[in-house]
Amino acid sequence: MARILVTSALPYANGRLHFGHLAGAYLPADIYTRFKKLQGEDVIHICGTDEHGAPITFAAKKEGVSPKQLVDKYYRIICDSFERFGIKFDNFSRTSLPLHHRVSREFFLNLYQKGYIFDKETDQYYCETDKSFLPDRYIEGTCPYCGYEAARGDQCEECGRWLEPAMLLNPHCTLCGGTPVKRKTKHWYFDLPKFEDKLVEWLQSKEDWKPNVREFALGWIREGLVPRPITRDLDWGVTVPLDEAKGKVLYVWFDAPIGYVSSTMEWALKQGKHELWKDYWLDPQTKLIHFIGKDNIVFHAIIWPAVLMGHGEFVLPDNIPANEYLLLGKGKFSTSRGTALWLDEYLDKYPADPLRYTLAINLPETGDTEFTWELFIERNNELADVLGNFVHRTLMFVHRYMGGKVRTPVDVTAEDLTLLRKVEATRDEVANAIDRFQLKKGIKLIMELVREGNRYFDYQKPWVLRKEDTERAKAVMGVCATLIANLSVLVTPYLPFTGEGIKNMLNLPEYKWDDIGKIKVDTTVGEVQPLFQKLKPEDIP
Ligand code: MF3
Ligand code: ZN
Repeated sequence: MARILVTSALPYANGRLHFGHLAGAYLPADIYTRFKKLQGEDVIHICGTDEHGAPITFAAKKEGVSPKQLVDKYYRIICDSFERFGIKFDNFSRTSLPLHHRVSREFFLNLYQKGYIFDKETDQYYCETDKSFLPDRYIEGTCPYCGYEAARGDQCEECGRWLEPAMLLNPHCTLCGGTPVKRKTKHWYFDLPKFEDKLVEWLQSKEDWKPNVREFALGWIREGLVPRPITRDLDWGVTVPLDEAKGKVLYVWFDAPIGYVSSTMEWALKQGKHELWKDYWLDPQTKLIHFIGKDNIVFHAIIWPAVLMGHGEFVLPDNIPANEYLLLGKGKFSTSRGTALWLDEYLDKYPADPLRYTLAINLPETGDTEFTWELFIERNNELADVLGNFVHRTLMFVHRYMGGKVRTPVDVTAEDLTLLRKVEATRDEVANAIDRFQLKKGIKLIMELVREGNRYFDYQKPWVLRKEDTERAKAVMGVCATLIANLSVLVTPYLPFTGEGIKNMLNLPEYKWDDIGKIKVDTTVGEVQPLFQKLKPEDIP
């Protein structure tokens, strides 16, 4: 059985996690991995914090702390939020670890020795007040393409074009606001154009990819590939393993994806199986799947695969199911611009699953979607009215009128069968959807099944049967409880805490995905707890 290596974009350890991060990469990756694990596949979910580059040094300066203090602080906050939100990783590493530095330098040297990296001296902007070169977000100016005045040295956030500091008009230093001067400095470049033909051929073979990802990448190549500078004049990062590169570090986007490899190595080391990472990375059968937001497509679908091609031994991505943006009003979520909804603040007030549900059913899979608190309350209440209500009314009934005892009926009617058969059909449709990264569709199918359960309950009228035909009332409750038991597994990829809650109330063992449809109950229901709390408009934070 082919192994599956799932990664989600390493979050910068320069701020807290926001809802945009979750909808872009982490929730889809978690749903997918949980589903594959339930199916019994050999799958691991690998991630870690991205702790280098201007995003870190810049944020550290703003908070008045050292880069090391900054990443230590946010590493903990990020880990804690992921855990509380139920995002499970097999390993969650950090790019500041010595292991990662070593592996990144090895990658650099490997490509350097093969002639895929060359050096070049150029004029770069330098701030005489701050005594430093101004790469990436250290410099802002007017975009030469669209005229946006606050374009950064690496990219214009208005038109999305990639820039180099030297292309900016009216540049100024973002540290002191001063006007920089030009100075000579040497940098090392990754020779991306050498991979053009291979990249195009590889991308064209990916017919099952989301069109937005594949077309975007191919379009980007069509505009022309140029060598990319992969070193920076900074003192925080992975030092460049060449004597003549003293005082320079690797560009964060060169070392960060290598974090997927080093984190897998750390995972193997933690189990005392030093070579285990090779079973994933060096086996061409492995399905490497990168979950990312759309702003990371170029790196994951072009530059990183080129690095892997250059290295030669590693498996290439099998799929990159990138999502579009989750918008809060206008404008995308952004840590650096301070417009966001923070996961840790949310989790201090509400449980994880209602937000997992709201985001999952509203994932920006094919286009941008919007988040509002009104929408959250609506979805939370839908979850309570549909799933919460079905479970609660069934288990309360069993608890109140049947001494808590419930079992899957032996004699079933045609209506009972229709409902129970729908479980298996839904299982397969959901599996199909998740396999195609249509995660929204999966949760909608599940909710449709629950609605069917509520309709069955209403139609059977167990509150009447209880007085007129107790045996039939028991059978009807047996059917409902059976559906609930099967749902406990079916909802788990999306709503793991809910799945667990149901499992506990019904005293169920651990089941696998393929058990769905066959799960029977014969149990005494313990204390019945509501799964969700309804919210009112006044509850909006
Ligand atoms: N830290 C980057 C971001 O937040 C993502 C890095 S993904 C990796 O946009 F591939 F480089 F790890
Ligand atoms: Zn300055």
